[in-house]
Amino acid sequence: MVPPRKIAAVTGGNRGIGLETCRQLAKRGLKVVLAARDEAKGRAAAQRLRDEDLDVDPARLDVADDESVRRFAEFLRKTYGRVDVLVNNAGIMIDTNDSWSDGAASALKAKVETIRQTMETNAYGALRVIQALLPLMPRDGARIINVSSGMGQLTDMNGGWAGYRMSKTALNALTRIFADELKDTGIRVNSICPGWVKTDMGGAGATRTTEQGADTIVWLATERQVPTGGFFRDRKPIPW
Ligand SMILES: NC(=O)c1ccc[n+]([C@@H]2O[C@H](COP(=O)([O-])OP(=O)(O)OC[C@H]3O[C@@H](n4cnc5c(N)ncnc54)[C@H](OP(=O)(O)O)[C@@H]3O)[C@@H](O)[C@H]2O)c1
Repeated sequence: MVPPRKIAAVTGGNRGIGLETCRQLAKRGLKVVLAARDEAKGRAAAQRLRDEDLDVDPARLDVADDESVRRFAEFLRKTYGRVDVLVNNAGIMIDTNDSWSDGAASALKAKVETIRQTMETNAYGALRVIQALLPLMPRDGARIINVSSGMGQLTDMNGGWAGYRMSKTALNALTRIFADELKDTGIRVNSICPGWVKTDMGGAGATRTTEQGADTIVWLATERQVPTGGFFRDRKPIPW
């Protein structure tokens, strides 16, 4: 019997590392659901990948909105009945958007509202999506990959960018919490840092391509045996 096609859902899939992750997963034979908060952008991005002969469906998802997450999970349940890989990639970095900002986004003046908004997407967004999709994830090796950042590492924590740093540290905590609570299920939960990647967020000065940024995500999603509860960059464990 042919095993059922694996289904992967990627949040923030319309551009940057998310879009490249969709491409790489589809190239490896997974059916990819490219989730985007803007429906038109999601459709356009999915069409781009379909034009490359890849099997990618668009879906609408704002990870900061409970109702949107509920509808996304319902869409996945009705359309595919399962989710084998979830990539929590959607993220924002808005610390420098505040009018006072000195460019380094000093924590001395950081606005709580900016930090709250960042947590809402980068940390609570991932929590919402994991909770909503877990009932659809088979207990035989499904994968959750949280796209974190070296800026969330406590072992390398520096000043500035308080909202972004706190959100990624919190996301890493979620990785550990879910990995522990799901340890008997076969579902693997890991964090990754993509490195400094040329995207709208990373900027033109970044040193890595989106292909390089997506590599460890795709590895954790598709490799036969992977650990759980780890933090990885370039397929190697890094400290929390
Ligand atoms: N680039 C880097 O150097 C770097 C380094 C370390 C970690 N990361 C992490 O890698 C991930 C991807 O970053 P990127 O560089 O590809 O950034 P990007 O080009 O700015 O893309 C971010 C993606 O997240 C989506 N998004 C933001 N808020 C969302 C929400 N509430 N609901 C759904 N989607 C939302 C965006 O959608 P819209 O198009 O609608 O805005 C976009 O698709 C992020 O989690 C980021 O923190 C990036």
